[in-house]
Amino acid sequence: MGLSPILSGMIQLKNLCLSSPIIQSPMAGCTDLAFRLVAREHGMEMAFLEMVSSEALVRGHQKTSNLMKSVEHDRPLGAQIVGCKPEVMGEAARRIEDMGFALLDINCGCPVPKITGPGGGSALLLEPDTTSRIFERVMNNIKRIPVTAKMRKGYVDESGDEAVRIAKIAEESGLAAVTVHGRTRAQGYSGKADWQAIRKVKEAVRIPVFGNGDVASGEDARRLLETTGCDGVMIGRGALGNPWIYRSILSAMAGKETPAKPSLEEVKKTALRHFELELEIEGEKIAVLKCRKILCWYFQGTPGAGEFRNQVNYTHTANQMRRLIEEFGKGTVPFNTP
Ligand SMILES: Cc1cc2nc3c(=O)[nH]c(=O)nc-3n(C[C@H](O)[C@H](O)[C@H](O)COP(=O)(O)O)c2cc1C
Repeated sequence: MGLSPILSGMIQLKNLCLSSPIIQSPMAGCTDLAFRLVAREHGMEMAFLEMVSSEALVRGHQKTSNLMKSVEHDRPLGAQIVGCKPEVMGEAARRIEDMGFALLDINCGCPVPKITGPGGGSALLLEPDTTSRIFERVMNNIKRIPVTAKMRKGYVDESGDEAVRIAKIAEESGLAAVTVHGRTRAQGYSGKADWQAIRKVKEAVRIPVFGNGDVASGEDARRLLETTGCDGVMIGRGALGNPWIYRSILSAMAGKETPAKPSLEEVKKTALRHFELELEIEGEKIAVLKCRKILCWYFQGTPGAGEFRNQVNYTHTANQMRRLIEEFGKGTVPFNTP
């Protein structure tokens, strides 16, 4: 028996029309170009670059340009800026729009001390006046694309009231939508995401709200939407090494049964594809280093994952990496490790 559909169809954010309200979150060090291309091959529609510092963007840092690498079929793509100075955030926003991104997001959630120390990321939750000025500057400089804000439910306060306050300012400033991650800054990435706090924000504003936190399957997405009444879902860590999550969520939303889990062969094929893309984009040295972490996501929870994790740290060449993936689950030792 099929389940009843919970949300169907498109969502319109200003001039950006998405065929489904499922968005991949920005994740520093994770949602790079290779990740996004694999995800798009598996049904992901809308994604973000990882966050970029507004200061570094305006100063034209090379490292920031590298983080913004994309290709024509990596669309629609949003960019997210982080910072605390209204004039710098406004200038960064103008440049993002000129670069052709489909959406601009303002980071009000990053918990890292390097970002919160000067007053950016989740520290904005405590500074409504500064946040309001940032939104105003950004909106003044953006002509066409939708602007959104992604926030945690609070800095230390558990109630969700800080997110409600910032979401209301976002609405008054003309932002197109907000995303709420149901954890406080104090929680980091641990503990359970509080979906009731997300609901509180949803009930306080009329602009679309995306719920975020602890969505690892189509069933989770379904429960989040039912619990919060949100207009869409933003997927985080649930997509790492799991590009099958997009189809699973789309099926759940359409009231269809969950698609079968991918076979080990399919997982290996996709992990190899991800590695080959990193290789093409980054070159051998960086691709191997990056994939020591990335490939573990694919095999997590599978028998042999522990041994894979040990061995992957001794890979230095593309061929070693390929052999390690190909031999996964066969009980063989692909190459000698110390
Ligand atoms: C390694 C890592 C990097 C992240 N980088 C960003 C970022 O650049 N911008 C952002 O808004 N959130 C970032 N996040 C937060 C996620 O987008 C998401 O809000 C969070 O992981 C909660 O969702 P989840 O429980 O489904 O993972 C990051 C999370 C992780 C684990």
